[in-house]
Amino acid sequence: MTISRRSVLATSAAGLAVAAAAGGAEAAQAASPTVLITGANRGIGLGFAKDYAAKGWNVIATTRKPEDAQELKKLAAANKKVVVEKLDVTNAADIAALAAKYKGKPIDLLINNAGIVNDFMNPKPQSFGTLDHKMADDFMHTNVLGPLQLTEALYENVKMSEQKKIAAVTSLAGVHGANYGMVPGGYWYKLSKAALNAAMANIATDGKKDGVIVILLSPGQVRVEKIANARISGMIETPEAIGGMTKVLENATLAESGSIIRYNGEKQPF
Ligand SMILES: NC(=O)c1ccc[n+]([C@@H]2O[C@H](COP(=O)([O-])OP(=O)(O)OC[C@H]3O[C@@H](n4cnc5c(N)ncnc54)[C@H](OP(=O)(O)O)[C@@H]3O)[C@@H](O)[C@H]2O)c1
Repeated sequence: MTISRRSVLATSAAGLAVAAAAGGAEAAQAASPTVLITGANRGIGLGFAKDYAAKGWNVIATTRKPEDAQELKKLAAANKKVVVEKLDVTNAADIAALAAKYKGKPIDLLINNAGIVNDFMNPKPQSFGTLDHKMADDFMHTNVLGPLQLTEALYENVKMSEQKKIAAVTSLAGVHGANYGMVPGGYWYKLSKAALNAAMANIATDGKKDGVIVILLSPGQVRVEKIANARISGMIETPEAIGGMTKVLENATLAESGSIIRYNGEKQPF
């Protein structure tokens, strides 16, 4: 996939006309914005990949096991603007390789979605009194330090893009203003999401001078594949969550950079 600076700037109607006049799939591809998504093989990440592909974006869909990512393979086979890349967000070599491959190429929107999710069916290791302290490192590395390292590695790509947006999928479980999701336990998940919020708010402060917008997305309680049959009150379906969050991202401004915004557009106090 070739994405030139000149062409990515051409996202307006005039730009599209220029691309069309230039002819060829490559010019049309270069005229579209680019999104990079982590953990794009299932759940919310796959929902983002499908949604942006349907909107005609260039989609860099990353997953730690491309060979097993059947849904992504299908999506890429049906859409030339979708590429699948290997990325384990805890693997520094993967991050460096991806950054090297895309050096000098604009990324309009970086979505830090990959994460270890709270396992409601197995509360003991994250409950006070029976905490499994060995688990803490995995949560912090995957949910905080990985996204931070990836964002640092791809910051120049975002900065050189037209839209200049960075998102991270957080949870009300990591938000003091939401009483940590009003659920008991979940220590490692809550600590990791609270730390992710702090990290991204810091990047928002650092990125303001460059016009980079950082948004913490709160997706609601989403019925992803692995909890398809769970009966949890207030659950929403994946397309509703994705539709809401993509709208939030589309409308996001520099003035609200660093905010936590729910899928329905409500701002959430930290
Ligand atoms: N679903 C909800 O209700 C909800 C609510 C609030 C926040 N969130 C957040 O939304 C995000 C996505 O959650 P989900 O519900 O879609 O969960 P999911 O279905 O469990 O998907 C998690 C994704 O993260 C990937 N992942 C895990 N560790 C990774 C690593 N080290 N490197 C790269 N990818 C990794 C998984 O890849 P593998 O397939 O390789 O494991 C998978 O693609 C998470 O950050 C989660 O905390 C979800």
